[in-house]
Amino acid sequence: MLKGKKIVLGVTGSIAAYKAAVLVRLLVKEGAEVQVVMTPSAKEFITPLTLSTLSGRPVLSEFFNTGNGSWHSHVELGLWADAMIVAPATASTLGKMAAGVADNLLVTTYMSMKAPVFIAPAMDLDMYAHPATVHNIGTLKAYGNHIIEAAAGELASHLCGKGRMEEPENIVKALKDFFLTDRDLEGKRVLITAGPTYEKIDPVRFIGNYSSGKMGFAIAAECARRGAAVTLVAGPVSLPTPHPAIERIDVESAREMCETAVAVFPSCDAAVLSAAVADYRPAVQASSKIKRTSDGMTIDLEANPDIAATLGRAKKEGQCLAGFALETDNAEENACKKLEKKNLDFIVLNSLEDEGAGFSCDTNKVTIIDRNGKNAYPLKSKAGVAKDVVSHLAKLLMLLVMLFVPSFASAEGEELNATVNLNSSKVQGSNTEVFTMLRDALDEFINTRKWTTNFYEENERIMCSFNFVVNSYANDGSFDCSLMVQASRPVFGSSYNSVLFKYEDPSVKFKYQPYDRLEFIEDNLDNNLTAVIAFYVYMIIGMDLDSMGELGGSEFLNKALTIANNAQNLGDSGWRAGGSDNNRHSIIDDYMNGALEPVRKLMYKYHRLGLDTMFKSADGGRKAITESIKLLKQAYDDRPMAYFTELFTEYKVDEIVNVYSKCTPEEKKDVVKILSEINPSLSSEWDKITRNNN
Ligand code: PMT
Repeated sequence: MLKGKKIVLGVTGSIAAYKAAVLVRLLVKEGAEVQVVMTPSAKEFITPLTLSTLSGRPVLSEFFNTGNGSWHSHVELGLWADAMIVAPATASTLGKMAAGVADNLLVTTYMSMKAPVFIAPAMDLDMYAHPATVHNIGTLKAYGNHIIEAAAGELASHLCGKGRMEEPENIVKALKDFFLTDRDLEGKRVLITAGPTYEKIDPVRFIGNYSSGKMGFAIAAECARRGAAVTLVAGPVSLPTPHPAIERIDVESAREMCETAVAVFPSCDAAVLSAAVADYRPAVQASSKIKRTSDGMTIDLEANPDIAATLGRAKKEGQCLAGFALETDNAEENACKKLEKKNLDFIVLNSLEDEGAGFSCDTNKVTIIDRNGKNAYPLKSKAGVAKDVVSHLAKLLMLLVMLFVPSFASAEGEELNATVNLNSSKVQGSNTEVFTMLRDALDEFINTRKWTTNFYEENERIMCSFNFVVNSYANDGSFDCSLMVQASRPVFGSSYNSVLFKYEDPSVKFKYQPYDRLEFIEDNLDNNLTAVIAFYVYMIIGMDLDSMGELGGSEFLNKALTIANNAQNLGDSGWRAGGSDNNRHSIIDDYMNGALEPVRKLMYKYHRLGLDTMFKSADGGRKAITESIKLLKQAYDDRPMAYFTELFTEYKVDEIVNVYSKCTPEEKKDVVKILSEINPSLSSEWDKITRNNN
């Protein structure tokens, strides 16, 4: 998970600094590149020599290299890193980071950091509990940093309590968890509502509620962190926007919130409605302050629009709509009613009966309910709850992409018609024009070149997307991007699409200057970017043909193999043949290797004989899919290390769970056994097949 990731490790002057040595060793062991930055006082606790030896890089501590006067650029470090960890973080450094006191290289690096920042505090228990520290940690959290809370135990003072820096193993785990779900909403647009609404009685009074907005803001931050374009429609709250990439629209009343949500929703893939919207508003709003009289007073109320139900009615195929239910009694029953009534895809139930749940506090305890069942979670921070909610959303969205991708009505001929996204938010601040030009050049290259002479009918068009995220960019035109390639094929006789190929390429390095046209000559590769794209395009077309007809797509897969072989001479990463790397070469090598001939057959059985016939006779289709899974097992037995078998199970997991949701226990048994053997890391998903009883 951390292989190839670039990590800046900030070490400060705490007795726990000795643990930084273990942390560096663990990170390096995971394959990460580590750059240590120390505060001057950290050097009193651990020597730079120890950390530079373990990291294999000189440790940085001063603004200038005293030997030659050169500048240690915190700005470049901020662009270079995929993540920054500050461990241990003393009370003093926390205070400086929260207040922006940039008087050492560590704090300037933090303030220039474009990547996510993880902070592991370490200090005495009283210092940790002091309101100043609590306030600083709260501020750093609100800035979107990830706090890895201190653990309880014996401290350097020999007192016992909370303040010990979390163990290095757990810090590495937090980082791995973060990257595991990283960017799975890339290319998606999500609407979030958050906070209360205020319904005016007169110019100085309103009807409102206790919502602080914390829950919705945490969800917005999590969606943005995972790559979504987020529009956050916020009621009156006093929270800062939690992520720089979020578009925030402030509103006051339910009607304003409704109007904004209705306008934004059509361009979104999903909406999560966490706002506590007032159900009623005063029928009349006085234009001047209502005077006190000795009599009582009655306010007539009229109903506000139900935003969730309005969006539920407007929802199109492929869109996902989630709501919250805040209950006090008959919690689950009421939540299920709201799920149905408002046409939601899932609902997040929080009950005011549970301590630490609901309004204002920093924690929540929720149960996520959808039409397949429910999942109850323990009490967690609102950031933790946001992670669970967004993971559920990401999963449903993936399923919806498979089920409801619109057909490409405008597609005319042999061109690919792919969606091309380029996200440059990590390196914003540089010349942004170059990113727009690169995106357009990519779009033109991918979508106007005739990659195949096959003519795609409208109902058999492959849907694919190329999502680039710029990790680094230098003014000489050097780019390093990660690339997510996805392709789906239509399932005949239905509006469903099934994933054909999904792969995250961690590093595509190339050079591009504004106005460059992207050219590609198959046997004379001189550009790594066009080679990578052509490689994936040919993979996709080849696999598509494999899934459509018995003759298969070996002509195109051979082209991809030729590119992989030739591209090794370009000297860029990701192409190396052999070895155990899950690189581009291993994907095609696996696929083309004679030992994996069953894989080619299984593609045909799975898609054409399986899914394509499922809509005529569900059981007939499933029989072919079972046969294809047996072929997968044969391929796995021939080459257990083959990367393709792992990839196939990963991108088909939700679909397979769905396909087997309605069948006999006998039918399920064989399949679950095979899948658990081929990809045990997905065992909890395969268990769902056994558990599903509908
Ligand atoms: O903001 P915090 O202090 O962090 O607190 C978080 C929270 C408790 C507000 C949040 O977790 C929550 O439960 N939000 C929903 C509160 C609510 O209004 O629940 P409800 O059961 O009344 O509404 C059900 C759903 O319909 C909600 O998604 C709500 O946004 C939506 N709704 C309700 C009324 C209305 N007129 N329009 C709506 O869209």
